[in-house]
Amino acid sequence: MSTHSTEQSSYPRADVDPPSGQLFPYKHLLGIWGLDPTAIKHLLDTADGYVEQNRQAKKSTAICNGLTQINLFFENSTRTLMSFEIAGKRLGLDTISMSTGTSSIKKGETMLDTAATLNAMHPDVLVMRHGDSGAVKLLSEKMDCAVINAGDGRSEHPTQALLDALTIRRRKGSIHGQTIVISGDVAHSRVARSNIYLLNAMGARVRLVAPPTLLPCDVDRLGVEVFHRMEDGLEGADVVMMLRLQNERMQGAFLPSLREYYRFWGLTREKLTVAKDDVLVMHPGPMNRGVEIASDVADDLDRSAIEEQVEMGVAVRMACIDVLTKDLRSGDAS
Ligand code: NCD
Repeated sequence: MSTHSTEQSSYPRADVDPPSGQLFPYKHLLGIWGLDPTAIKHLLDTADGYVEQNRQAKKSTAICNGLTQINLFFENSTRTLMSFEIAGKRLGLDTISMSTGTSSIKKGETMLDTAATLNAMHPDVLVMRHGDSGAVKLLSEKMDCAVINAGDGRSEHPTQALLDALTIRRRKGSIHGQTIVISGDVAHSRVARSNIYLLNAMGARVRLVAPPTLLPCDVDRLGVEVFHRMEDGLEGADVVMMLRLQNERMQGAFLPSLREYYRFWGLTREKLTVAKDDVLVMHPGPMNRGVEIASDVADDLDRSAIEEQVEMGVAVRMACIDVLTKDLRSGDAS
């Protein structure tokens, strides 16, 4: 089954300032929604340069020397936290990471009091992940510095969508015109939402493939095609992005069993035969092998871009920090 909505998404805009003629005219990076395609392209072009820098023996520059970056993570993370930390260090920032397990949040302090405390230490960049949708935007209103959303609830994960876009652009030459399947637990996925916004903005054709229980209730307004059978949704696909079942965001049972889920919704070699021969397989991680993806597909070096996505993550996060601190550095010789 396919339901196609060409109608412009009426989902509320993420809070970003309106474009002003600059290449990246925003103070924060809170989401992809509302970003101008020119700004997205500027971030991807900047990240391309950092991919090359990261492949050299000497990977660091001093362009952000003297600036301070705080990573504030209220949820678990491996890839996102590490790559933000590496990205900041490679640009020369003093980078400090704090997880809620070790903060005063455990002693009852509110998130906004924590924000005021951190703001008083004059950071220049604050990277934040939180389990509640909208929490990062709320905090950004209390901070003087640039705030980057590293994932808020099921709302947005803009740097993941940017690193996915960079991976696709480098592998396929362009995002425009590609048929891109996003499959799995779309309902609970901030990765899916940010990707839908970005891929639509850049002219891709986006398909969602998921059981009806794992689709968001505003799916008709997202400008995507919807399929309820993998065999139909994967037909002729250029790219397939698989998503983890976000059990931590589910209340109650959404599926009969994991075995059945894998049978119908797990990406296997057999199901991929209807996609294009050069189909690119992606996954934001962490992967649950044998649930949403077969191990031999994840490890297929010809098709899987999963490790490359991690590599692109460092470059994209460097690009985001670079553009958001540009004004601060404009008086510098560097
Ligand atoms: C994703 C997230 O946290 O939203 N992971 C990530 O950042 N690479 C996806 C997930 O947790 O499944």
